[in-house]
Amino acid sequence: MNEFVLNHPLITHKLAFLRDINTGTKEFRELVTEISTILVYEAMRDAQLEKTTIETPLEKMETGTLNENNYAIVPILRAGMGMIDGVLNVIPNAKIGHIGLYRNEETFEPVEYYYKMPEGIKNREVLVVDPMLATGGSASATISRLKQDGVTKIKLLCIVAAPQGIETIENDHPDVKIFCATVDRELNENAYILPGLGDAGDRVYGTK
Ligand code: PRP
Ligand code: URA
Repeated sequence: MNEFVLNHPLITHKLAFLRDINTGTKEFRELVTEISTILVYEAMRDAQLEKTTIETPLEKMETGTLNENNYAIVPILRAGMGMIDGVLNVIPNAKIGHIGLYRNEETFEPVEYYYKMPEGIKNREVLVVDPMLATGGSASATISRLKQDGVTKIKLLCIVAAPQGIETIENDHPDVKIFCATVDRELNENAYILPGLGDAGDRVYGTK
């Protein structure tokens, strides 16, 4: 199993509001941010720290700090941008790369329209963020594109995943661990996640 699911009553509570059709844009954005922050804590559990000595008001101590320069966040446009503030809450100095993909409405295949990564991307650990993992096509294409650029350490953070999307990533990229808030039941005939939360991009940007 290559996925980690946040099983926590407070996450179920937050997801209930996130999924609700009556939740407005402002609250939707705030919830995406909040859940993303928690996902990053889990995704960073194996982070390597650099040894450092600090002085508390009482004494010196050996401890560790994170070299934030080793990390990049890559949101999949558009909806992935909604997760950026949540990640930056905990890794404020991470560099940000962007990939623009949209799903062809008939084939559900991702179409790339933008790609811009920070310098030295291949030497960074990359956190790919997108609230929805449906067929898995967009996330898989993003990971393949990053690997083409030489990136070797990639994690995928999403809020709602479908079993099919998880299977796609596990088959295409068995080296990539998925961190998600929930795994939903299935996809409908339009490749939307059920019960899901609808179109994440539209709900983050208020475009519908
Ligand atoms: C959504 C979502 C993912 C993708 C997931 O984006 O944000 O990127 O669909 O579906 P998949 O797993 O089947 O590829 P969408 O294409 O709707 O674009 P948007 O974020 O610009 O609205
Ligand atoms: N993209 C979304 O925004 N929602 C889904 O349910 C599937 C793909």
